[in-house]
Amino acid sequence: MKVAVFSTKSYDREYLDKYLQEKHTVEYFESALKQRTVGLTNGFDAVCVFVNDTLDAEVIKRISENGVRLIVLRCAGFNNVDLEAAREYGMRVLRVPAYSPHAVAEHAVALIMTLNRKTHKAYNRVREGNFSIERLTGFELSGKTVGVIGTGRIGKIFAEIMRGFGCQIIAHDAYINADLEKQGVQYMDMETVFKQSDILSLHCPLTPETHHMINAESLLKMKKGVMLINTSRGKLIDTNAAIQSLKDGHLGYMGLDVYEQEEALFFKDLSEIIIRDDKIARLMTFHNVLITAHQAYFTDNALDQIAKTTCKNIDDFCAGSIQKENEVTAERVLG
Ligand code: NAI
Repeated sequence: MKVAVFSTKSYDREYLDKYLQEKHTVEYFESALKQRTVGLTNGFDAVCVFVNDTLDAEVIKRISENGVRLIVLRCAGFNNVDLEAAREYGMRVLRVPAYSPHAVAEHAVALIMTLNRKTHKAYNRVREGNFSIERLTGFELSGKTVGVIGTGRIGKIFAEIMRGFGCQIIAHDAYINADLEKQGVQYMDMETVFKQSDILSLHCPLTPETHHMINAESLLKMKKGVMLINTSRGKLIDTNAAIQSLKDGHLGYMGLDVYEQEEALFFKDLSEIIIRDDKIARLMTFHNVLITAHQAYFTDNALDQIAKTTCKNIDDFCAGSIQKENEVTAERVLG
C-alpha cells in the first residue's frame, strides 16, 4: 500500500520505519495535512496523520478524489477528523486507541508535582548558585481531594496513582468503573467534582459536549486556589476564562500539556520567531502556570506501540479484517 505520512518528526520516522518499511511504500512529509497541503496525497492509498492534522470535510473530499481510501491516526483522539465526511466518501478511519495510558497519567502527575513543589524553579536557582528556598513552599498531596473528569484508560491509572499519594479521589464519568469504586473512588456529578476538588484533572475526550467544559462559570464553582491539569485536549478549556481566573487569583495553578490553539505552535521550534499568539504569551507570564507541548504520550514504549498498531491497522485494512475497537465511525460517535 502507498502511505503518505504527515507531520513527521525524526522520532516518528525512526519507529514507523521499523514496522512499515518492509511491507508498504511509505513517503514522509514534515508538513501537516490540511487544505493547503492536500495536493501531496495524490496517488496514495492511505494517509497517516497525528493530532494537529486537519481532516475537515474539504480535505476528506479532496484526498478521496486523489485515491486515498484509508486514514490511519497515530493517536487515540480523533476530534480533528470530520467523521460524517469520512462516512460520505467511504473513507475508513483507524486509530491507536491505547498506546501507553501510563505515559499520559504519569505526565499529569509530573505537572502536579512540578507546580506544587516548584522543582523547575529550584533547578534554575541551584544552577545559578542560589540556594535560597524562599517562596518555594508547596503543599502535601496526602489528604487532598483530587477530581478526575473521565475515568477511562488514562483517568483510571491517574486516579490510582493519586490514591497512592494518600489523596481522596472523586470522579465524574457517565460510565462508573467498578474497580475504581471498590478502591474507594467516589463518583458524583460534574458540578460537585468541580466544587470539592483541590486538584482537578481532565481525562475525557473533546466532543461538542465537553468543548469549553472549563469556562468562566465552571471556574467560579471551583475552590479558590484550585489546581487545574489538562493533558487531554486544549479546547476543553476556554483559555480566555482561565487567564481571567488566574488574574483574579481564583485559579491557583494550571498545568497544560495541550492548548486550545496548539496547532500553530506545538511540535515546532519557534525559539527565534515572534510568537503572535497573545493568549499563550500571556499564559507563559504566570509563575503558577506550567506548559508542556503535547509530550504526555512521549515515551519509548508509546512510540513503539503507536508504530506497531499503525502498521497492524494498515495490514488489517489490506486483509479486509479491520479490528473493530481500532475503527472510529460517525455512527459509533454520533449515535
Ligand atoms: P478513554 O476513551 O479510555 O476514556 C475517556 C473517558 O472519558 C471515558 O470513560 C468516557 O466515558 C469519559 N467521558 C466522555 N465524555 C465525558 C464527559 N462529558 N464527562 C466525563 N467523562 C466523560 O480515553 P483515554 O485513552 O483515557 O484518553 C483520554 C483523553 O486523553 C483522549 O481523549 C485524548 O484526548 C487525551 N490524550 C492525550 C495525550 C497526550 O499526549 N496529551 C495522549 C493520549 C490521549
